[in-house]
Amino acid sequence: MTPELERLFEHLRFPSISTDSRHASDVRANADWLVAQFAKMGLNAELHETAQHPIVVARNKHQNDRKTVLIYGHYDVQPVDPVELWHSPPFEPEIRDGKIWGRGGADNKGQHFVHMLGAEKILQEEGDLPLNVIFLIEGEEEIGSPNLVPFLEKHKAELACDIIAVSDTGMVAPGTPTLGYGLRGITCVEVKVHGPSGDLHSGVYGGAVANPASAAARLIASLHQDDGRVAVEGFYDNVIPLEDWEREMWAQVPGANDADFLKVTGSSEVFGEPGYSAAELIWARPTVEVNGMGGGYQGEGSKTVLPAEAMFKLSCRLVPGQNPDQVQEAVIAHLEKHTPPGVRIEIERGHSGKAYHNDPHSVFGKAAQTALEKSFGKAPVLIREGGSIPIIQDMKEILGADSLMLGLALPDCQIHAPNENFAVENFEAGIEMSRALLTELSNL
Ligand code: BES
Ligand code: MN
Repeated sequence: MTPELERLFEHLRFPSISTDSRHASDVRANADWLVAQFAKMGLNAELHETAQHPIVVARNKHQNDRKTVLIYGHYDVQPVDPVELWHSPPFEPEIRDGKIWGRGGADNKGQHFVHMLGAEKILQEEGDLPLNVIFLIEGEEEIGSPNLVPFLEKHKAELACDIIAVSDTGMVAPGTPTLGYGLRGITCVEVKVHGPSGDLHSGVYGGAVANPASAAARLIASLHQDDGRVAVEGFYDNVIPLEDWEREMWAQVPGANDADFLKVTGSSEVFGEPGYSAAELIWARPTVEVNGMGGGYQGEGSKTVLPAEAMFKLSCRLVPGQNPDQVQEAVIAHLEKHTPPGVRIEIERGHSGKAYHNDPHSVFGKAAQTALEKSFGKAPVLIREGGSIPIIQDMKEILGADSLMLGLALPDCQIHAPNENFAVENFEAGIEMSRALLTELSNL
């Protein structure tokens, strides 16, 4: 194993699960480790406290006559459950079949560590980086970056930059360099459905009392039309339609056709708003998804109970033009309007983030394309992404800089799921990509 991989493994061994307060000290230890890595590289590194998890910022000595690039990443990870489905323990990384297996390999430790290693190589060879660089690695991305927006506002001047580079997205197929120029936004809602004052015998009372689980099912069903379109009034208002050049371009993207999509997801057919390919639906159309539902008896065998309550969790993915707060209110209004008689709903508003998109043909976009071509030996494909990194649009609004998304996670990387993995070849090419990117940006 190379020394670079050994160091990535150290990074991956921290169980930095940001959502789980039992892991708060692991998150912090991971941040301390990052600060030490940056310091060893010769950068000026700082750990910034927040109300929750620390933010790590590192920079070289800045010079006024050079451009500044901010490299964003996150060192927090998603929970590992169901842990029994992992083939090797999530925080004991190992290499099998050309892949690094472990939580955070692709999302996002492996992907930001290549930028650290790329910069380190240049520093070792040249003694300095060819432009001003700021690394900003946060510990709360997976919980919606609650403390990063106030941090950006407070440190706006020190974080001023011309362009942002992020590797926290996907690569459409092995060997196909991918530049992302869009992300979907998000807004989440949790619903509790309350019925009788306590669980009831389903024979003694059933038939005369509204059942919260049935009501939850009706509410969930009301969110979509039979054809897959979202039925919430006003949901599609202001959606910016995808453009013909994008549809034509995406039709040529390897790994992005419906057949590949069915293979990687294991689903039997594309299902969603009629008239779009799977890639178009994911990259450029909004959706409402049920993330979880529950209520009543979940154990073995039968239990004749009429549950007192039921619940479900929703997330909407949004596209440019949609306002997350407005969509959240529209969904809530829809749920209130469709609540069946005999139950009461209680709504909890979850986190939100705006969609993002930029022009992949800008001078910065072209520099990123050149860097990808030089490091992977092939011109990149240009895509938008179905996932969300809300802070990217916040950085656009607060720092005024666009983000180049140089994705390195393959379709089968299983982020957020058991057996997350990161291809060793992308780790290695990623280091070269990062060096090439810094060089290209310094030439602008
Ligand atoms: N890296 C992902 C987002 C992503 C993955 C974008 C693949 C494009 C392709 C990020 O860490 C993530 O999971 N984001 C969350 C955001 C949420 C918690 C606010 C998401 O998309 O669910
Ligand atoms: Mn993630």
